[in-house]
Amino acid sequence: MEKKLQAILTEAKSSESSIQSMPALDQFKAGIVGSKGSMTEIMKGMKALPKEEKPEFGKKINLVKKELETLFAKVRERLEESDLAKKLGPPVDPTLPSPNLSGGGLHPLTQIREEMVATLNKIGFSVVEGTEAETEWFCFDALNTPEDHPARDEQDTLFFNEDTVFSNVTKKEEERYLLRTHTSSVQIRTMLDRKPPIRVIAPGRVFRRDTVDATHSANFHQFEGLYVDEAVTVRDLKALLDYLLKSLFGDKVKTRLRPSFFPFTEPSYEVDLISPNLGKLSNQWIEVMGCGMVDPKVFESVGYEGSEISGLAFGIGIERIAMLRHGVDDIRHFYQNDLRFLNQFNR
Ligand code: PHE
Repeated sequence: MEKKLQAILTEAKSSESSIQSMPALDQFKAGIVGSKGSMTEIMKGMKALPKEEKPEFGKKINLVKKELETLFAKVRERLEESDLAKKLGPPVDPTLPSPNLSGGGLHPLTQIREEMVATLNKIGFSVVEGTEAETEWFCFDALNTPEDHPARDEQDTLFFNEDTVFSNVTKKEEERYLLRTHTSSVQIRTMLDRKPPIRVIAPGRVFRRDTVDATHSANFHQFEGLYVDEAVTVRDLKALLDYLLKSLFGDKVKTRLRPSFFPFTEPSYEVDLISPNLGKLSNQWIEVMGCGMVDPKVFESVGYEGSEISGLAFGIGIERIAMLRHGVDDIRHFYQNDLRFLNQFNR
């Protein structure tokens, strides 16, 4: 009997590795511990043993049963693992480079901004940054835009609550905080900070209480330019904007300055361009930006008065340029993060 018991165990151990499926395992188990299994037979045979041998033999049987159970569990685990491996496919080498990784791209507005920055860097302009939260003085007063000016209307400007504090945005006095409505506030911060000659550009986000439609957004991007030195003239302004717009729209572009009004420039102009290569908008004058010569009142507010200083300034809507460049007819496309739109700009 004891030999038989050992034989069952040895036999089970030696054939275990050939079991390749769950049904095969079930069959294997049945052959040992099933109702007609070899172990079951032995246990039945125990009855015939003399009484005093029974406890001893019972212990041995239990030991072998335990070993067999461990063996069954081991086989089951092996089968489950190989099942999972089949599902997962061949092993992965995590150190290999990923195949077909579609690269990210720069947003079309970022592309235009970077292009403008690079173009103006070439002629000595460097980027300065302001903050999106500003104060009434920097956004309006210092830019010769008095209290009763319509641009300050609560309808157009988003003001912060009286108790708001921005520790990184200095106030002139006790004026209110607001979200800047244009990047021209950066002109003031820069001039207070430096002495001429100044050649800076300030791209950034601006905010207006506009109702959103195909050409308006309450939150868009501008690109400010400021050049302050001795004897800066309208000729410099025209040449500079010609250079910038030609770099953006090609050499065939013609530009013109059309008299306009801004409180912080005098004279002030709207810049129009015309080009044979603008799709539906070819060969017609299109308004693209505002500009002018820095108003002496602005120099006064930053303490430049009495000097021989003059300057030019311009402000462009980045969305406007991107829409013209790419023939986009709805500004909202830029903000919807629709990959079908964005992927067209991946270079
Ligand atoms: N800040 C003006 C605007 O938002 C644009 C501008 C900038 C005009 C600089 C003249 C000079 O419309």
